[in-house]
Amino acid sequence: MAGELVVWVALLLAHELLPCPGASAVGRGQFPDDFLFGTSTSAYQIEGAYLEGNRGLSNWDVFAHKPGTIEDGSNGDTADDHYHRYMEDIELMHSLGVNSYRFSIAWTRILPRGRFGHVNPDGVAFYNELIDALLQKGIQPFVTISYYDIPQELETRYGGWLSPEIRKDFGYFAEACFMMFGDRVKFWITFNQPNLFLKFAYMDGWYPPGRCSTPFGNCAFGNSSIEPYIAGHNMILSHANAVSVYRKKYQGKQGGHIGISMCSRWYEPFRNTTEDILAVERALAFSGPWFLDPIIFGDYPIEMREILGTKLPEVTTEEEIEGYKIGFYWTQSLYNIIFEGLHLLSM
Ligand SMILES: *[C@@H]1O[C@H](CO)[C@@H](O)[C@H](O)[C@H]1NC(C)=O
Ligand SMILES: *[C@@H]1O[C@H](CO)[C@@H](O)[C@H](O)[C@H]1NC(C)=O
Repeated sequence: MAGELVVWVALLLAHELLPCPGASAVGRGQFPDDFLFGTSTSAYQIEGAYLEGNRGLSNWDVFAHKPGTIEDGSNGDTADDHYHRYMEDIELMHSLGVNSYRFSIAWTRILPRGRFGHVNPDGVAFYNELIDALLQKGIQPFVTISYYDIPQELETRYGGWLSPEIRKDFGYFAEACFMMFGDRVKFWITFNQPNLFLKFAYMDGWYPPGRCSTPFGNCAFGNSSIEPYIAGHNMILSHANAVSVYRKKYQGKQGGHIGISMCSRWYEPFRNTTEDILAVERALAFSGPWFLDPIIFGDYPIEMREILGTKLPEVTTEEEIEGYKIGFYWTQSLYNIIFEGLHLLSM
């Protein structure tokens, strides 16, 4: 039964709960008792304190500081000052009545230089305090392991997501998180909307590392027709690696769940013709299924393969896809959070 396959979780942004004009009010009573209402953030967007607590420099710090990359010259140096004001932020969440909060861990607070340096105790202490304070207020932490920010060192050393080296770094970081926070964090999300990130970072050049080529954009470096798929492949295998480590070494004793969050779009054919129906299938394939097909079925959508040919990396070995099939809870919202369904594996 469908209900057994999934972890029933959906995070709704608070403003989405406001009734639409003319619609009848939505009440909590209409949701199951264990339904989670939440707020959601990402580290670089809110934390600030970019030089404090022995944090390393991230790709976003370097990108935002480069003159001309951000139109109004702003950056995340201070952002919402969440690093100093997290207790106030938790109070605000508590006053909203939410019972879950999704945040991301700044890779550079935990591992300022990726796997080439030490674990930073100040960073660990910050997230320990945050997690403990959330739990005391009855707010379930949902942790995004990587939300677009990576240690700048990984970018300069080997080109970040374009190199298979990053799979080792992501695995190292993810395992550090499971080890240090997994006793209290029961919901892990490896990546936030990697399909959107790849478009912005490697196709349009709007996000660091700001790589692209014409006709998609006008960047000094990059190749929009191939790099998003190389970087994406490394992200998919990084996800796989982290999920596999979690299952083998942590899930048994910690009893949590791990998944991924995708940006999901939906398309409808304009006319009821074969041509338009096939166009919809192509557009859909390049959206969520770009990641979900390899993760769930073990290979990329056929439509992507037909269009990209050898530009799309091969999913090679059985081992690479073993052990990380996931089930998913598909909402109508733009942002879907996908968690593994343990029962799916025994089907
Ligand atoms: C991008 O890579 C493809 C495949 O290697 C190549 O055919 C194309 O010329 C490259 N484009 C640019 C702008 O470098
Ligand atoms: C689309 O066309 C097919 C074949 O002509 C027809 O069976 C189907 O009912 C049509 N669907 C819609 C939504 O009009």
